[in-house]
Parts: sequence; C-alpha cells; structure tokens
Amino acid sequence: MEKLVITGGNSLNGKVDISGAKNAAVAILPAAIIAATGLCIIDNIPDIDDVHCIERIIENLGCKVKVSANSVIIDSSSLNSYNANTEDVRKMRASYYLIGALLARFKKARVEMPGGCAIGVRPIDQHIKGFEALGAKVTIEHGSVFVEAEKLIGTNIFFDVVSVGATINVMLAATLAEGTTVLENAAKEPHVVDVANFLNSMGANIKGAGTDIIRITGVEELTGCSYSVIPDQIEAGTYMIAAAACGGEVTINNVIPKHLESISAKLIEMGVEIFENGDSVTVKSNKNLKGVNVKTLPYPGFPTDVQQPMSTLLCISEGRSLINESIWESRFKHIDELKKMGANVKLEGRTAIIDGVDRLTGAIVKATDLRAGAAMIIAGLVAEGNTEVLDIEHIDRGYPHIENKFNALGAHITRVSIK
Ligand code: EPU
Repeated sequence: MEKLVITGGNSLNGKVDISGAKNAAVAILPAAIIAATGLCIIDNIPDIDDVHCIERIIENLGCKVKVSANSVIIDSSSLNSYNANTEDVRKMRASYYLIGALLARFKKARVEMPGGCAIGVRPIDQHIKGFEALGAKVTIEHGSVFVEAEKLIGTNIFFDVVSVGATINVMLAATLAEGTTVLENAAKEPHVVDVANFLNSMGANIKGAGTDIIRITGVEELTGCSYSVIPDQIEAGTYMIAAAACGGEVTINNVIPKHLESISAKLIEMGVEIFENGDSVTVKSNKNLKGVNVKTLPYPGFPTDVQQPMSTLLCISEGRSLINESIWESRFKHIDELKKMGANVKLEGRTAIIDGVDRLTGAIVKATDLRAGAAMIIAGLVAEGNTEVLDIEHIDRGYPHIENKFNALGAHITRVSIK
C-alpha cells in the first residue's frame, strides 16, 4: 500500500500535458472486441489502473493485447469467450461495457455485476431496458448479468434518465443489429461522441452522437482501425482547479477547450483568468477568489466528476457557496475529510453549504473515491504544513502519474510505501 505526502503552500506554474480520457478509453477498449477481423491500434491511452484492468479482462476473454507506452494494439479475432467473471470484472464499473460488446459479437454475454466508486446506487436498469428492446433476454443470476438474443433488431429506445453508461452500452449492442436503432434522451458527454467515432472508424454507422438523439444503422461486421482517444476533460478540469486554488499560472496542454466551458465559466465567475489557445488553456489565479453556486448536470452542464475538486476550491474562497449534486446521491464523502483540515461545510441532502475559510491545515485524510482523492490532493497543496492522503489506489485508477505532473508544476508530493 502507498500514500501521498504533500507539503502545502507552493504556487503552481508551468505546463502540464493532459492524457487520454479515462471514461472514453474504458469504453473504447471493450468496443474493440466487436471487431472480428483486423487490428485496433489505439493511441493516447491513459496509463491508469482502470485501463490496465480492462486490458487484462479482454486478454482473458481471448483477445491479443499489446501495450506500448500510450498505445495499445488489440487483435480480437481470437476472442473465444462470452463469460467475463474475473476479480478484475467485479472491481470496475466500466466492465458493464462488455455486456453490449459481447452481445454484439456473440449475441450472448455473461458478465459479473460491475463495481466501481461508491458514490451512490448505481443501477443498470436503462442498459437492460435497451438490450431487451433490441430483442435480448436478460437475466441476473448468481451475481452475473446473462444476456442472450437469437437476433438483435433495431428499434426506438427512450431512456428514462440521461445515462452515459446506458447510451454507450446500447450503442455497442446495436452496431451489428438488423435495421436502425434510435436512442432518445441519450447522453451527450464528449466520451459518448468519442466511442461513436471509434465505432464508425471500425465500420459502424452511427449518426447524431453529441446530441440527445443517436441513430445507429446496423452493419454486417466491424473491423480493426487506427484511433486516438480524446483528451480527458476531467483530468484537465482537476488541474485547472488546482491552479486556481494554489495561485500561479498554469498552461494545460492537449485539451479541447470546448469540453471545459462549464468549468472555465465557473472559474471566471470566481475571479480566475482563463486564456484559450488552440488545444491549450492557461489558468492564472491570485488566489483571492469568491464563492459561487454549482449544480452538477449531464454535459454540457458542470460535470459531477469535477464537483469534488471544485468543493476544495470553494472551501478556501470568500463567502458562502452552495453545491447541488444532482447525479450521484453519495458524492460528498470527502467533505468529512476536508473538515479534518479546517473546512467549514454543512451537508443537507444533496447540497453542500460551504463557508469559505482563510486557510486549511495539513492532516491525515483518505481518498474515499477517485475524484475525492483529487479533492484531497488539492486540499493538501493549499494547506499549511503536511498532509497525508491514504487509500490512493482510488486515485491511481483514474489519474496518470499525478504526483509527477503536479511536482513538475512546483508542488511537493512524495509517494511513500506503507508497510
Ligand atoms: N442511472 C440509472 N439507471 C441506469 C444508469 C444510470 O438510474 O441504468 C442513473 C445513475 O444512478 C445516475 C445517473 O443515471 O444517477 C447517471 O449515471 P450514468 O449512467 O451516466 O453514470 P455511469 O455511466 O455509471 C459514468 C462515469 C462516471 C460519471 C458518470 C456521470 C464511466 C466509467 N463512469 O458513470 O465517472 O460520474 O458517467 O457523468 O464512464 C468518474 O470518472 O469518477 C466517474 C464516476
């Protein structure tokens, strides 16, 4: 086990390169197994534990997976199992994409119920509704989802809630279905568009991704392709917020500024200066920031995955801020940890009422989930004295080389083994 030890108080200055998007990569890798022929050569893959976990899972199903630096080459012609039931499958949320992908490839899938961050009830009823509408029979037995269809036939599906996972999963299943599938009330997140673009590069016929109506016309087969994953909106947002909190001037490279608009708009409202330049944004902050209200919403609204880092920033901003978390009901577990460092926050249901304090002080805290971990690192960077962040395996699931990237900006973070 390891922990991060942070000495706070430094401003952040310089440049940081953003990696490929976690939530795109963990869907694109399962999507690659639909290709019965040809190689998928995928670039800009982030070096994170969730990606390594999915790579092991698809290898275990019979695919040949060759990883080098930030690329992966997948040969799915040798895929020979529709049973995904290893410890890795149970451990991560995105393993549910194997259901849609295996259903497309074999008309059959057995996948253990997915795990992931404990941020609220995480139902998959909308995924199941979509598979059933396409003609599959779905049963849940012995902790696994079993899906089987004689054939999949395109149809209209109206999702009851906007779900990234259900939109992508049903899109995967529909790629080889007969006729046209229309997904209404679809999620519009950048990674939904990225997965659709990847599938189209493999020969799928998907139109409308990025709007709330996606049309998928089934094709005979998908084949390998070359593709590069989009930059990570959430990693970029995390560094933007860290720069705002610590003060200084940080240029965040390899981003799509359009994907960051809701985050930039909030930071500007607080008094941060932001300059866009092609595929980078520069964040300049003098740390004298005022509190704002934030409501998390599906894209293009303020992302729930940036809410926790943002809450740290609001803890040290002037006046009262309110955060309303509308996506996940338990995404405030980090607040107790922030309080150990002197934050003044009250929780009322899905709302956090934050009264800004002049300073946070170093403490021993936990990363209760992935983005909570990022929130605690930012807290440690601004706090007086030393902070120890425990349970950092959650952080390693989704942030590549986080201490190296921060240290290159002037932070002081050390990774220490715990015996
Ligand atoms: N929902 C349902 N039924 C479903 C599916 C979802 O009611 O069948 C509800 C959920 O309970 C939630 C809302 O719909 O209230 C949105 O859930 P969504 O399906 O969009 O979430 P997800 O696909 O499980 C992905 C990301 C999360 C991110 C959410 C929202 C991946 C692997 N995970 O989860 O990312 O918070 O979308 O944008 O893509 C993270 O990266 O830290 C993370 C948790």
